[in-house]
Amino acid sequence: MSIKGSIQGFSKLSKKEKIAWVVDQYLNGDTQASEVLSQHWNVDEKMQQTFDGFSENTLSNYHLPYGIAPNFLINNQWYAVPMVTEESSVVAAASSAAKYWSKRGGIQTKVLGVEKKGQVSFTWSGGHSTLKEHFPQIRTELLKGIQLIESNMQKRGGGVKDVVLLYLGEQLHDVYQLKATFDTCDSMGANFINTCLEQFASTLSNYAQANLADQGRLEVIMSILSNYTDNCVVEARVSCPIDELKVNNDRINHKNLANKFKKAVDIACHDSYRAVTHNKGIFNGIDAVVLATGNDFRAVEACGHAYASRTGKYRSLSECTIHEDQFTFTLTLPLAIGTVGGLTSLHPLAKMSLNILGKPNAKELMQIIAATGLAQNFAAVKSLVTTGIQQGHMKMHLQNIFNQLGADDEEKAYLNEHLDTSKVSHSAVRQLLDAYRTESSSNV
Ligand code: MEV
Repeated sequence: MSIKGSIQGFSKLSKKEKIAWVVDQYLNGDTQASEVLSQHWNVDEKMQQTFDGFSENTLSNYHLPYGIAPNFLINNQWYAVPMVTEESSVVAAASSAAKYWSKRGGIQTKVLGVEKKGQVSFTWSGGHSTLKEHFPQIRTELLKGIQLIESNMQKRGGGVKDVVLLYLGEQLHDVYQLKATFDTCDSMGANFINTCLEQFASTLSNYAQANLADQGRLEVIMSILSNYTDNCVVEARVSCPIDELKVNNDRINHKNLANKFKKAVDIACHDSYRAVTHNKGIFNGIDAVVLATGNDFRAVEACGHAYASRTGKYRSLSECTIHEDQFTFTLTLPLAIGTVGGLTSLHPLAKMSLNILGKPNAKELMQIIAATGLAQNFAAVKSLVTTGIQQGHMKMHLQNIFNQLGADDEEKAYLNEHLDTSKVSHSAVRQLLDAYRTESSSNV
């Protein structure tokens, strides 16, 4: 007998049955709800099957806008960058900053490292020195054990680069780790790394059983990649003489802009409360491209925030310098992404994004993503220290408000003409629209 609100074997139900169950149990049988869910199915059944294959227990698709930010000049090459985001202003801001810097030499980027890491954590009761003594032999066995797994990756120039033994005993009694470094070439590499690590774990256990059984007990706790890829890092930079830092705003001159901009970035370098918001602005751009190219934005975010804390305090990922009247703004962050494997080849729009970007390899994509993060950050901080963020933001958000209030084209035209754009708010729009509707109906 099933208890209300819970179910056995939900995953075995058909999609329609799943919807019916959710509607019945959680939406008071609202038939409109099932219509909403089915309205968002893909009309192409095969395509829908592809989407359903990405996850489990799917009921529908959750649409997000797919936009493009043109005019990115990165290392002297033009790009139009695909971005997936639900936040208004993000794509407009990235595009405008990209255009701004394209007239000032563009964005310069470079990859500083491509190393990925993984860990096999285990306990060993027989003492550090025994394990240390055996480790050269264990290491040889570990590498031998993955020869088949890594042969394809090796052909592409990647594979396991090193395996070391770590002792965590000072903090965790009897706990050790095999810490391995990998080059996964153009793939993000999670599957490759985890397969290698699980093989390491099995080789290690077998070695201990065969050679160390009389000296202690070894037990593997877990084998998993680390998403903290602090040596898979990319840098993006813009620079120009302060005189060229002009903005279309007569309230601020270029020197004042440069100084205020630098001060704002310095504040984010020192104050974690500001740093989180500042970095959130960077990830507005980063995540949007990571998503558009079918990469793992949770991994990128988790790693980026850990990297922002690498000094022991959470700080800005970007920094600004003014040296001999030269303004330079730099973003440095880790980005473990791929251009082959995973969703990159399965999701039709991820594939499309990579095509729009000229089929980049992973290193090129790291640079494009970092450039977008830098542009996004520049646009946000520039707005903050000049006009403030709300003016532009609310202008972009207006369309959402119009739609929420069910305004038709005529009403939108009226609102656009009569709204005081410096004081846009949901309630201001509602008041004006209500007044317009009252007026219109009394004129009928
Ligand atoms: C909003 O999504 C992002 C900003 O808050 C970033 C920032 O404050 O730098 C505008």
